[in-house]
Amino acid sequence: MATEQPDSQDIIIFGATGDLARRKLLPALYHIHRRGLLPPDGRIIGLARKPMDDDEFRGLVRKAITTAEAEGDSQKEWLGFASRLTYLGSDEYTFTNLAKLATQNQRLLYLAIPPAVFDSTIREIATHGLNQGARIVIEKPFGHDLESAVKTGALVRDVFDESQIYRIDHYLGKETVQNILVLRFGNSIFERIWNRDAIDHIEITIAESAGIEGRGEFYEPVGALRDIVQNHAMQVLALLTMEAPVSLSADAIRDEKLKLLRAVRPVNPANVIRGQYEPGQIDGSQVPGYREHEGVNAASETETFAALQLSIDNWRWAGVPVYLRTGKRLPRRVTELEVAFKEVPKTFFEGSGVEPMRPNHLTIQIQPEEEICLSFVAKVPGPEMRARQSQMVFSYAEGDEGRREEAYERLLSEAMAGDSTLFVRGDSVERAWTILQPVLDSPPEICFYPAGTWGPAEANPLIAPDDWHLG
Ligand code: BG6
Repeated sequence: MATEQPDSQDIIIFGATGDLARRKLLPALYHIHRRGLLPPDGRIIGLARKPMDDDEFRGLVRKAITTAEAEGDSQKEWLGFASRLTYLGSDEYTFTNLAKLATQNQRLLYLAIPPAVFDSTIREIATHGLNQGARIVIEKPFGHDLESAVKTGALVRDVFDESQIYRIDHYLGKETVQNILVLRFGNSIFERIWNRDAIDHIEITIAESAGIEGRGEFYEPVGALRDIVQNHAMQVLALLTMEAPVSLSADAIRDEKLKLLRAVRPVNPANVIRGQYEPGQIDGSQVPGYREHEGVNAASETETFAALQLSIDNWRWAGVPVYLRTGKRLPRRVTELEVAFKEVPKTFFEGSGVEPMRPNHLTIQIQPEEEICLSFVAKVPGPEMRARQSQMVFSYAEGDEGRREEAYERLLSEAMAGDSTLFVRGDSVERAWTILQPVLDSPPEICFYPAGTWGPAEANPLIAPDDWHLG
């Protein structure tokens, strides 16, 4: 993946005072600057609604960086970074002024704005010729359903060529997500068993202990299916189950992901459980229910939890169910992929162990730990023939000292360098909506779960006769 940066490039952030810009983008740009990887003449132009001068904007950025705990923030580095910052508040001349200001021949436009102003911003960009020689980074949600995704996609592609568009899914910037490709295609032992002959089922868990964190207005029309399943979960699933690409080029990888998503059968709403958290306990503290949050309807039907069974209709995976579970206010934050292998044809050791025997499983933990764990059955030392469950663990952090690049840093650097491997292509976005559309059209009734539990009990029969591996 590219790390070479152009000499000059304007980075233009639409929505520069918003939550995403303050929490992720500006601290990420600061770290890129500290590592000497921002183009020497690279300016950062922030745009937002609020009237503000450059110095006030710099103050806001400084605060954002300190809050994000930018390590070893030094006055010299800050001053260097601050000198790159400029701000444009919104008025009728914003885009005219921006076009005068953004004179570098390369520019990166970053749209960190709410969906409601997305289309009008794209149109203004086109009217003022700012799309020429630009790359545009857009944030999910890419649409609200298939129809809106197709419509917005067409608008963006009308103004930008697909090669100029960088759709961010920050999961693709995570180290361990990228490691899925290396694990699968750098080790010959997996290829032979990575299929329906050896694998019983696959489980993907994206669990958060956090609630909606003051984002009621954003979350209420969205819910877990649109917020996590349509994007992060589908991308991870594609990397885990796609065929080997012909090369590591952006399109070779993205072609395989698309091919895989095309094989995923649009979900049957009968195979989906939607849940919503009620008040409960997280880490010993009482937390409110979803309907009590500001910006949330008191009778809301938005799901904060979703469990789904998916099927992949291709030769490799026919008959191997994929179970996917995500939710807010679950007991802990953990993102894990579990590949469960088939049982041995005949069990000799059942009941002889100190623990119940489970077939082999390979667990890839993406966060909070970054590790890969293979479970297997081994003999308990001693004279008796007893077996127990054992594990081989590879911890990604071992031998890796120093600060790890954040997902947003990686993704911004790649977009500046013009490498789209870690970004989502429009056709995959639309395919992921196609997979989910049946459940968006006929959503099953909400089931409730107390905050701090692994979701509604109604989700258990979905995976039976197995159990969810966490919970
Ligand atoms: C975002 C969602 O895309 O991902 C949030 O909008 C969610 O609701 C977040 O909390 C989770 O990201 P991470 O990196 O903490 O797993």
